[in-house]
Amino acid sequence: PSEKGWLVAPHHQYQGFWYTPKQLQGMLTCQLHFRAHDSDLLLVTTPKSGTTWLKAVMFAIMYRTRYSWAKHPLLTNNPHDLVPFLELKLYADNQVPDFTSFITPRLFATHIPYVSLPKSVKDTNCKVVYLCRNPKDAFISYWHFVNKLRPKTLGPLSLEEASEKFCRGLSLCGPFWDHALGYWKESLESPQRVFFLKFEELKEQPTVHLRRLAEFMGYPFSEEEEKEGVVDEILRLCSFDNLSSLKVNKSGKMTYDGMEHEAFFRQGGVGDWVNYLTSEMVERFDTITEQKFHGSGLKF
Ligand code: A3P
Repeated sequence: PSEKGWLVAPHHQYQGFWYTPKQLQGMLTCQLHFRAHDSDLLLVTTPKSGTTWLKAVMFAIMYRTRYSWAKHPLLTNNPHDLVPFLELKLYADNQVPDFTSFITPRLFATHIPYVSLPKSVKDTNCKVVYLCRNPKDAFISYWHFVNKLRPKTLGPLSLEEASEKFCRGLSLCGPFWDHALGYWKESLESPQRVFFLKFEELKEQPTVHLRRLAEFMGYPFSEEEEKEGVVDEILRLCSFDNLSSLKVNKSGKMTYDGMEHEAFFRQGGVGDWVNYLTSEMVERFDTITEQKFHGSGLKF
């Protein structure tokens, strides 16, 4: 099925999730051609769940012995350029991307739902980190983001129309709830392969969750690193204030479905939805969340 999208392109449903034509094309190419390595790491998110943040954090964890903090690549590169999306970048127009410049072990990102992941990701020991965010915050962030990208001729998308779409599941790689559940279930079944992390918990207890994440990824902090304050160094480097103040992230542009933007940093907090959603909207979001996650153990 097809539906009117959030921007210009319509949304098409495939294996239960919604895509723009261009993203669907990239996803199908990736599904067919990507060959994961055992040592690969894959960050998975739904859009606006903190992908940019975790790209930076995972990059900083994995490659920390290669660079000095003073001359770190994250100071001069946008996280999206250091950790490219499989379907939106590498396989967007290309069946055979050039991986030669990648540092091994490789680090990639994707929004592809679990059901549609390339077979080799499931068949290898490739590790998956899933970052999830409170659906109401992810939605508000998505709404702002889309309105920054919408061409002037279309005018802004109202909050009512946007929440109607989102709650019906009609967002990029939505339904949001099904996307999270797919990875949540997998993280329970195969905790050594899939790590499920919430934006809110990383915000609230950053050092605790950074250590857990590094451990899962296979890059635990040594006693010496702990003494040297490496955990704090990474958190500082990847903080909202630091990343959003860097020249490269202010001026850096990237292509998202054919549109240029620099809108990955807005306010970076928890609970901004209270400033926007009506009580009816809140009730609708909460009911869907309760119904969808009922019995799964996943809560917000
Ligand atoms: P808000 O719009 O709520 O501010 P994504 O990277 O998946 O597109 O998600 C973007 C959201 O993550 C935005 O949320 C953005 O501000 C926030 N974000 C970006 N970098 C961050 C960081 N270093 N720490 C916390 N949040 C960050």
